[in-house]
Order: sequence, then C-alpha cells, then structure tokens
Amino acid sequence: MVRRFATAVWEWARRHRFRSGVLTGVVVGALVAVLVPALLPDRPDGLEPPTDDPLIILSGLDESDDKQREILVAQWNATHRQQARIVSLPARADDAHAAMVEYAQATANRVDIYNLDVTWTAEFAAARYIVPFPGGPVDRSGFLEKPLLTCEWNGKLWALPFNTDAALLYHRTDLGLEPPGSLTGVRAAIDQVRQRPVAERRGVEAGYVSQLRAYEGLTVNALEAIWAAGGDVVSRDNRIVIKSEEAAAGLRWLAAGLAEPGNLPLILPGSRGFDERGSTDAFAEGRAAFMRNWPVAYRLLTPEGAPAPRVPFAVTPLPGGPSVLGGQNLAVSSRSARPRAARALIEYLTSERSQQILFERGGLAATRRIVYLDARVQERYPYAQTLLESIEAARPRPMTTNYVAFSQVFQGVVREALDDNGRITDDHVQRLEAALRGRR
Ligand code: GLC
Repeated sequence: MVRRFATAVWEWARRHRFRSGVLTGVVVGALVAVLVPALLPDRPDGLEPPTDDPLIILSGLDESDDKQREILVAQWNATHRQQARIVSLPARADDAHAAMVEYAQATANRVDIYNLDVTWTAEFAAARYIVPFPGGPVDRSGFLEKPLLTCEWNGKLWALPFNTDAALLYHRTDLGLEPPGSLTGVRAAIDQVRQRPVAERRGVEAGYVSQLRAYEGLTVNALEAIWAAGGDVVSRDNRIVIKSEEAAAGLRWLAAGLAEPGNLPLILPGSRGFDERGSTDAFAEGRAAFMRNWPVAYRLLTPEGAPAPRVPFAVTPLPGGPSVLGGQNLAVSSRSARPRAARALIEYLTSERSQQILFERGGLAATRRIVYLDARVQERYPYAQTLLESIEAARPRPMTTNYVAFSQVFQGVVREALDDNGRITDDHVQRLEAALRGRR
C-alpha cells in the first residue's frame, strides 16, 4: 500500500513537471505527512482524543471524611484534558447494586467506570457489563494480595482495588474495660458495666452496636458472628455448612443479645434498623460501649480539625474471628468509548499517592501496603497496623455470579434465626443451597 501511494505521488509530481530534486522532496514530504500520524498512537500519552463528555464513574455514595474520592477526581481534572465525574448512587451496598445493574442494562446510559463492591466482580464480568482490565499487562506489584484477588474472576483481572475494608472493634476508653478477645469476652465486659450504678455508666445504654438492618450489612455481621463462634456458612468446596452447633452459637449470641431486657441489653435494639452510618451515630452519641464497624468510621468519629474525638475510643481487631473482607474495585464498562482513558484514570485513583490521600484524609483503607508502612502514617494513625493485620486476616464472601441473590436469601434466614434464638432449620439449608446454585 505504501509503495502504491509513493508511486501515485511520483506520477502526479512527474505529470506536473517537477525537477527530480523537488520531485523527491514532494514524495518524501507527502509520505511523512500521511504515514507518521497513522503509525503514532492518537496522542502521545496513548489515550483516546479527549472529548467534552467527562468520563463517568458510577459509585456508591462517598462516605469518606470530606468526600476524598471527589477531591481526587478534581485533582485529575486539574491535570488532564479529558475530564471525569463521579455519579453518586445510594450508600447502602444493596441499593447501589440495584442502581448499577439498572445503569448497566439501560442502553441510553453512558458509564465508563464502575466502582463495584468486591462481591459483584463475578456477576458484572459474567454479564459482560465490564471488560477484562484493558490495554495490556498491569503492574500489580504493591497492592495487598487479598483485595487484588477480589478483582479476579475466571482467571482474568477485571478491576483494580480502590479501597479495601476490614471491620474493627471500637470500644469506649472512658469505661475502664479491657478490649475483649472473644464474643464471651464482650458479654463479660458488658456485665461489668451492668453492675455499676447508672450514674457511672457514662450514658451507655447498651453493650454493643452494629449493622443488623436487612441489607448486606446483616450478611456481613452474621458471617462474622458465626466465624467468631467457630462455625461457617459456605465451605471452601462450596457447600452450605451452616447447620452446626458453632454456627448456631454465633447466631444465638446476636439473637440473645437483642432479646435481653431493658437494663443495659448486650446489643442496642436499634441495631436492627442501623446501617454503617446509623451505628456510627449511635456510638458517637455515647449510647454503646462497643461497636463493630469499618475503618472509615474512625475518621468520622475524629473529624479533621475537631479538638477531640466525638467520644473517647480506641480500636482492636474483631473479637474471636476474622472480619469479612470488604471494599470496592474500579472496573471499565464494556460500553465505554474510551477504555484507555478509563484505565489511566483507574491507575491514577489506585496509585500510591492517591491511596495515601484516601487513607490519610478520608479514612478509606488503602489497597497498597506501602501506605501502612509509612512512618508518618503510623505515627499519626496508630490504628494503621491493627487495620493492616485485620485486612490480612479477613475472609472474602463467596465468589459467585449470583452472590447478591444468595446474600438476600441469607439475610432472610438470619432474620428468622434472630427471632428464634439462633435456630437454623433444614428448610433454611435448602433455601441457601438453592440460592448459592442460582436457583430461586
Ligand atoms: C462496606 C464494604 C462492602 C460491604 C458493605 C456492607 O461498604 O466495603 O464490601 O459489602 O460495607 O454494608
């Protein structure tokens, strides 16, 4: 093709009677003008040419202190011609999931990047809402191993981890309690407070507050209580193993705690209506001695610039067992017209610098190890080491394309068990088996 093009230019120049030196110049000039741009990438940085439409990131509500994700995107916008924008969905995982699936299925909506909960990777990949991470080999070094594993499915990498999550036990430091190492230890600590006159309880109304509303938070809390009691729900070879004395003991801990009488119940009854924000508020108001929550609550309880935390508190790992591994991953939409720019933005948001900002200023658990090892971070945020250890010990939820349906059935089962002193029936097991296999 090049030879045909060169011959045509030569012929044209000869017909117009150029002298031979000029002739060669014309041919070479024409070749350079036509071929060089074709051989180079569209732009020196390899991205698609910028357009006026911003790259759209679809994400659950940013709950970090001062909306640090938005601030990072604003920083990208200040240094890149291709602008980007976050479109915010509801905060609660289930509501964000429903809204994201709706976006993915509606052809009119344009999304470039999905900020997916770690449990949705398989579903979005199998439905082809997202593409395997585009544009050649990815530098995976520096990411924590567990969050990165949640970006993989069917032997491929589909996303990069934006933030990770492992729960911590928050406890009031003005009550003189030893942080407990087991579920029975939590109960023993509350018993101590119960024995004190009301005036010495510092306003505490209950032992423990958590997220027991019927949504993904209930799945997470029930899994953790069952694990802490030595039981399990789905075995490593993908069977339902919830019908055990240990699993029942975990559920009973929650059920009995909620059913306790008025005089300082083990679990704040309002927990059955709380999500992450509701439980953080109750703890901040001083209503409970302990709280199970994600690390982002730490920063919400110690707002930047405030003279003192909202209540005096410290954190330890969850008592008795591992946390569920939480977090969100950034994946490129299969309908993005700018996958290379989307990839560049994801790499920017998951870079060391961005991860440090998200953790230091927003309290979102970083997905890169170096952030936790930084001397300044360790000095300013004494819980960084505890958090890193909790992330490394955390357990993922089942990796399946029908995770959300499974989790909804599990929530129904847990709610029934909480009303029946933790009892699990054969019918529960069958419902969970069917849901795990994608049968409803
Ligand atoms: C947090 C976690 C997420 C989990 C959700 C449950 O956002 O990061 O993985 O599904 O809480 O409420």
